[in-house]
Amino acid sequence: MLMNIFVSYIILTLRLHLSPNRFTLQDGSVSVLKFDKDKEKPASVQRALSVLEMEVEQIKKGSYDHFMQKEIHEQPHSLTTTMRGRLKDGGILLGGLKEHLRTIRRSRRVVFIGCGTSYNAALAARPFVEELTGIPVTMEVASDLLDRQGPIYREDTAVFVSQSGETADTLLALDYALENGALCVGVTNTVGSTLSRRTHCGVHINAGCEIGVASTKAYTSQIVAMAMMALAIGSDQISTQARRDAIISGLSSLPRNVSEVLKLDVDMKELASSLVDSESLLVFGRGYNYATALEGALKVKEVALMHSEGMLAGEMKHGPLALVDENLPIIVIATRDACFSKQQSVIQQLLSRKGRLIVMCSKGDASAVCPNGSCRVIEVPEVADCLQPVINIIPLQLLAYHLTVLRGFDVDQPRNLAKSVTTQ
Ligand SMILES: *[C@@H]1O[C@H](CO)[C@@H](O)[C@H](O)[C@H]1NC(C)=O
Ligand SMILES: *[C@@H]1O[C@H](CO)[C@@H](O)[C@H](O)[C@H]1NC(C)=O
Repeated sequence: MLMNIFVSYIILTLRLHLSPNRFTLQDGSVSVLKFDKDKEKPASVQRALSVLEMEVEQIKKGSYDHFMQKEIHEQPHSLTTTMRGRLKDGGILLGGLKEHLRTIRRSRRVVFIGCGTSYNAALAARPFVEELTGIPVTMEVASDLLDRQGPIYREDTAVFVSQSGETADTLLALDYALENGALCVGVTNTVGSTLSRRTHCGVHINAGCEIGVASTKAYTSQIVAMAMMALAIGSDQISTQARRDAIISGLSSLPRNVSEVLKLDVDMKELASSLVDSESLLVFGRGYNYATALEGALKVKEVALMHSEGMLAGEMKHGPLALVDENLPIIVIATRDACFSKQQSVIQQLLSRKGRLIVMCSKGDASAVCPNGSCRVIEVPEVADCLQPVINIIPLQLLAYHLTVLRGFDVDQPRNLAKSVTTQ
């Protein structure tokens, strides 16, 4: 009991940190007060209390210096728990979605809605959801959908992605989609959260409690959860059976491939020390790894407090190329997939403008991506193309982590940010 209160206390502290709420513990009860600049007295606010099913071990750092570091290295395990019991007999079993699969298959489009890292995870899922289901997918940043009052129809399936399930913008977008009659699906890490209660159905990502403000293991688990969702929705299509089988077998070995890529930790620390004084960092990706570029840049921005932009490599000539010189570090993601040769030519163009390149490629491809050794290469294991974003983000998470430590900033509590953004 005491331990439960202690755990709840910590989680509350984390949830409420930097939000305009404060709470007090008194006589065995917790009260949450909202401080409003315009009002004299703080008002009491209602928050649902839940007893967390977790071990105290999960919220200790163990042998790590920071939660973010621990959570990055935990990913082989968190991905395993995301898939546990769901890859069955060569198929996919998602209990929370089973009853609604037929409705989803009949929908006219899928709309992914999220903010920040969760939006990026959905963007990573977009190509394979389109491929495996044949349903057009559109992307919405929750706040922008609300600002525009963008059209949502009864024939839409709206998929809401949020680690905490309490993200205010996402919940407002959910109310909006419910009013418009869409089928609403939640993808969240928090059982019993507002998102999982208010959606019609959904998938829990089961990544375990994430404490570092910068999301790491939740991102990779969200992608895997959405991959399983795409496989389940598309499971009635005979023409893609072989492709689905290949992805399912790729999923089952993914945790071991993630352990492999985590060995780049030392290299990423070294890379971080060569970038520590840079003012800016660009990340170019395309296809399956456009999202990787956005998410890698977001990590660098939010924890290392360094300006960083993720960009679509296909857009390079339409503006960003003007920035290229010998000082600005640029990461190009060029792992093997259908876009590989296009990325090779992007690298050539950047090199001919004396760009300072760091290229991420599949193992054994160093000389194919960088013929004369004038760029730095990060080699990662090659997995099924649509699962590659799960592997590719990990060196960038490690890079952001080490950059933050070297630059002397707070890893787990970045300036001005809160773990779950419960205000608009
Ligand atoms: C490497 O190749 C690029 C383009 O092919 C060229 O611009 C650059 O000068 C070369 N660098 C070295 C060190 O040879
Ligand atoms: C991924 O993991 C599986 C299972 O351990 C292994 O057979 C495969 O070779 C790995 N792939 C890569 C590219 O390391």
